Amino acid sequence: MTGKFITFEGGDGVGKTTQVTLLADALKTLGLKVKITREPGGNMVGEKIRCLMKSSSPSAMDPLCEALLMFAARRDHWVKLIKPLMDEGYFVICDRFYDSSLVYQGVLKKVPFEDIMALKKITIGDFEPDLTIILDVCSDVSIERLSGRKLILDEYDLLKKNEHDIIRKGFQKTAEIFSSRSVVVDAAGSEQKIFAKIMKIVQKRLLD
Ligand code: TMP
Repeated sequence: MTGKFITFEGGDGVGKTTQVTLLADALKTLGLKVKITREPGGNMVGEKIRCLMKSSSPSAMDPLCEALLMFAARRDHWVKLIKPLMDEGYFVICDRFYDSSLVYQGVLKKVPFEDIMALKKITIGDFEPDLTIILDVCSDVSIERLSGRKLILDEYDLLKKNEHDIIRKGFQKTAEIFSSRSVVVDAAGSEQKIFAKIMKIVQKRLLD
């Protein structure tokens, strides 16, 4: 594989989608081939699974079933989109990847870490992101950002403050476990200020 795979992680309302777009635009101006994608989603199978997940009523789905669906979507997304694009030299920027399964299905919904890692091994083997940016912000800020959205809210947009805190700690933990590929970025403050920090990291880790 010759391309690079960059993932963005963090709780709901931390501003991932904005930063993904800013980074993609900046890399394109450097003349790089860039593709934005997301999980669950990114291709036909993944988007159908995303719809299924988002249309289920809160907590209707068994947590292990949810984890299996996330990895089914991920497997197809990886085989059909991520790997081929990387083979063509693309910088693939993914809004969430398997750290989200470790946090949402694992930490929040209590599917054991080992079970999630077993699903990871079966579906994508030893594949890992080249860089994971974890956007970290206190739950009051993420809840406020979410309340400003005009989108239809899903189960995770309706999380309580304590659940936001659990998710935040979960991502801080994944950053420790996967420290060689993870960087935690303070996501409070203006979009441009946050982006400047991210660009510096990408420059140092992947472009120098
Ligand atoms: P979002 O990407 O628009 O925030 O919505 C996706 C939701 O799906 C988000 O709340 C987190 C959740 N999710 C999981 O529960 N497990 C996963 O593995 C992934 C990728 C997302």
